[in-house]
Amino acid sequence: MNEKKLPFDEKIIRDIAREYPTPFHIYDEKAIREAAKSFNAAFDWAPSGFRNHYAVKANPNPYLLKILSEEGMGTDCSSMAELILSDAAGIPGEQIFFSSNNTPLQEFLKAKELGAIINLDDITHLKYLEQIGLPETLSFRYNPGPLKEGNDIIGKPEEAKYGLTREQMIEAYTLAKKKGVKHFGIHTMVASNELNVDYFVETADMLLQLLADITEETGVNIDFINFGGGIGIPYRPEESPVDLKAVSKGIKKLYTQYVVTAALKPPALYFECGRVVTGPYGYLVTEAIHEKHIYRDYIGVNGSMADLMRPGLYGAYHHITVMGKENAEATEIYDVVGSLCENNDKFAINRKLPPIDRGDIVVFHDTGAHGRAMGFNYNGKLRPAELLLKEDGSVQEIRRRETLADYFATLDFPGLSQVN
Ligand SMILES: Cc1ncc(COP(=O)(O)O)c(C=O)c1O
Repeated sequence: MNEKKLPFDEKIIRDIAREYPTPFHIYDEKAIREAAKSFNAAFDWAPSGFRNHYAVKANPNPYLLKILSEEGMGTDCSSMAELILSDAAGIPGEQIFFSSNNTPLQEFLKAKELGAIINLDDITHLKYLEQIGLPETLSFRYNPGPLKEGNDIIGKPEEAKYGLTREQMIEAYTLAKKKGVKHFGIHTMVASNELNVDYFVETADMLLQLLADITEETGVNIDFINFGGGIGIPYRPEESPVDLKAVSKGIKKLYTQYVVTAALKPPALYFECGRVVTGPYGYLVTEAIHEKHIYRDYIGVNGSMADLMRPGLYGAYHHITVMGKENAEATEIYDVVGSLCENNDKFAINRKLPPIDRGDIVVFHDTGAHGRAMGFNYNGKLRPAELLLKEDGSVQEIRRRETLADYFATLDFPGLSQVN
């Protein structure tokens, strides 16, 4: 169980909305810092160090990256823009993990220039990368195929486009060593939004076993092991957060067995989680602008999939609080919708809620990761602002709302250049 709390009440959020019109996402700095601290603390036993590389795709805002960097996190990138954002946020190259796939050469080049750790998604990328010269450090992403069950969001590993097979992993380390690569890492990511502690411990078991096999079969010592992202969050009130201490305890036991007892060189431990770090500490704040009663009862808010895509894309649940009606009885059943000409532009379907009136502030929880980041401009909808609720209670706009001028910026057409 988790209580769906908010870091503001109706008066505070209405005051904020007077200065920054809805819809906007607002992020709770204090809670994000605390989440980062407790993630790090859970793994403080790791003898060669621990680092979470925050997945920039989860929330590509440099203000947040900077905060996370202050809390000891690096970044995980998979595009040119994410590399540039990490650099701008002051993340040192060696703390940037470049976990990309189907990667253009310019992106490898940028990663190499920054001194980022390059994690190759395929064995053929070794030759591809040779065009710009192999870096001293390389990591490879493992796809266990039928050996590991996936989960609903990420799918089955054997159907996923990512990573190398086991045989290719052995070949890749042998080849890379021959070509002069000096430091090695190993990576996998086989889950997304997973809440089951055992899943992560089993993944660690699989990867540590592979690490031991690679060392034995190729003579390569592996300096770091990256368990990927995918630690889930309790979107629904009846779900519980992942017990990171329990994940850590399970991994520690395996680490002792595979590394310490076998006297292998102790690798540093990495994750590249985004969702668990910022997800629960962001809120999409909207206003109810219409109600409609046909075959179902609808509440229309002034947001859409441009602001939060997950419900439309995956049927994902995002908890809703109607401000000022937190304790009112949920007597109504609504579809809460946006304004796209797409019938899946629904934030909630058949949701039990208190009666909602026009002008009510409707807040969607858990939008701090894979929220605004996934938004798109279909139907000419503009993406929302991002606000930071700072530790002292003040509010900083960390990204302004898009304007029509932004939307038309790529068009050189009479009559559109003056629009704002
Ligand atoms: C390669 C990679 N790393 C990390 C992440 C972050 O996942 P999460 O934010 O769920 O932890 C993703 C998410 O899609 C990913 O594809």
